[in-house]
Amino acid sequence: MKRTITTLVAAGAVGSAAVLAGAYAGLVNIGADDPHFPAVHAFLTMARDRSIEVRAKNIEVPKLDDEALIRTGAGNYNAMCIGCHLAPGVAKTELSQALYPAPPNLAEIGVDGNPAATFWVIKHGIKASGMPAWGKSMGDEYIWGMVAFLNQLPKMDAEQYQALVASSSGHQHGGGESQMHNHEGQHGDNKPGHHDSAAVGEGQQGSGMAEAAEAAPGHHDSAPADHHGGTAPSSDHHAEEASAGDEGSSGDHHSEQPPQAAPKTHTHSDGKEHLHES
Ligand code: HEC
Repeated sequence: MKRTITTLVAAGAVGSAAVLAGAYAGLVNIGADDPHFPAVHAFLTMARDRSIEVRAKNIEVPKLDDEALIRTGAGNYNAMCIGCHLAPGVAKTELSQALYPAPPNLAEIGVDGNPAATFWVIKHGIKASGMPAWGKSMGDEYIWGMVAFLNQLPKMDAEQYQALVASSSGHQHGGGESQMHNHEGQHGDNKPGHHDSAAVGEGQQGSGMAEAAEAAPGHHDSAPADHHGGTAPSSDHHAEEASAGDEGSSGDHHSEQPPQAAPKTHTHSDGKEHLHES
């Protein structure tokens, strides 16, 4: 028995040393276009699912069939989530195709029947995937709105989806956002025409999160953080943009969008077109 244990411990130590050495030698391909080995994938999926289940266990679920709640969720989902998770009538985006792990198409598969887990994921995000922790900028009630909406989403066609979004008052997430989310101060001083070239039609407005994947050279480098999160109090990237890139200059990333690209702006209830950086 003692001998077996010694052998196991030694084998474990050799194994760990080999893994460490391999990682140090650069053998792990961190590229998002190279899928995990099946065993690694299975392990990570198990760890992720259990992590969420355990943490969501004691979350109390409110009534989710409330129409007003679903409506609020629709506006917020359309503004912040479709760039990755798609919507009826939105088949794919650069982000939905290029992220690994891939964001699930919530318009098709919906969410599994565990609203507490869905709430937890939206609020806390998922490390080292593209899924952000929306709780940093949104109040719980707005997150519940999206959970309620996601329960309904797979039943909707494009028309019903658009109608619901249009009837919601757009993107709103009061309660949790920080000082940084000040529409007047953030967006009021843009040069005229700054947003005009984005030219997105009604109903195509989507998540500005697509910006994250672009990394327009030099353009966003000085805008370190999501303005919703307010983690970087000094960054007024709009002001920087206004001075750094003028209409038509090489810094104008809007005009570089291919026509089918994920839309970059959405309109707030106050009618302002609004650009979300991440
Ligand atoms: C930048 C891309 C991105 C954005 C924007 C995004 N997500 Fe995600 N989301 C992901 C990725 C990637 C995953 C999968 C992570 C994983 O499997 O580990 C995910 C997972 C999820 C899941 C879990 C789904 C499941 O079946 O387990 C939910 C629910 C979810 N997101 C909701 C949202 C909502 C609501 C929003 C908008 C407020 C949003 N996401 C915005 C990338 C994104």
